[in-house]
Amino acid sequence: GQKVPVTLKVNGRTYTREVEPRTLLVHFLREELGLTGTHVGCDTSNCGACTVHLNGQAVKSCTVLAVQADGAEVVTIEGLARDGRLHPVQEGFWEEHGLQCGFCTPGMIMAAAHLLEVNPNPTEEEIRRGLEGVLCRCTGYHNIVRAVQYAARKMQERSAAAD
Ligand code: FES
Ligand code: FES
Repeated sequence: GQKVPVTLKVNGRTYTREVEPRTLLVHFLREELGLTGTHVGCDTSNCGACTVHLNGQAVKSCTVLAVQADGAEVVTIEGLARDGRLHPVQEGFWEEHGLQCGFCTPGMIMAAAHLLEVNPNPTEEEIRRGLEGVLCRCTGYHNIVRAVQYAARKMQERSAAAD
């Protein structure tokens, strides 16, 4: 097909690329921009490994066309750490052994980071519900829940310290 220009702000940087109209956002990120931290685990919009933040919402980037995201702001797993410091959710996954094979982890972390933005103090039930769009074949979710609880505590400590 004929290529069309798409401009996106990804992890704070603006990129313009010519893409096929049917190019999915996930492929744009991985192949055009080389941001391969976002994973592709299915072709049925089921696994959630491709979850990114699109204009502040957690979305499965395999369900969005790059052209639909024209002008949007995207954050991927590569953009989550700030100033060389891991995001509290990344710390939590490390401390609480929230990953095994790691395949689901980028999507899980992006979903969890969004959950904590909208609900800084979620119950276990709310964490499980907030992450249900991302499938993990390895961990049984228990340590993932603990990782998110860890991150919630960390973020509360930090915002208390900043007051
Ligand atoms: Fe599986 Fe997007 S790649 S939901
Ligand atoms: Fe392997 Fe989740 S750690 S799929």
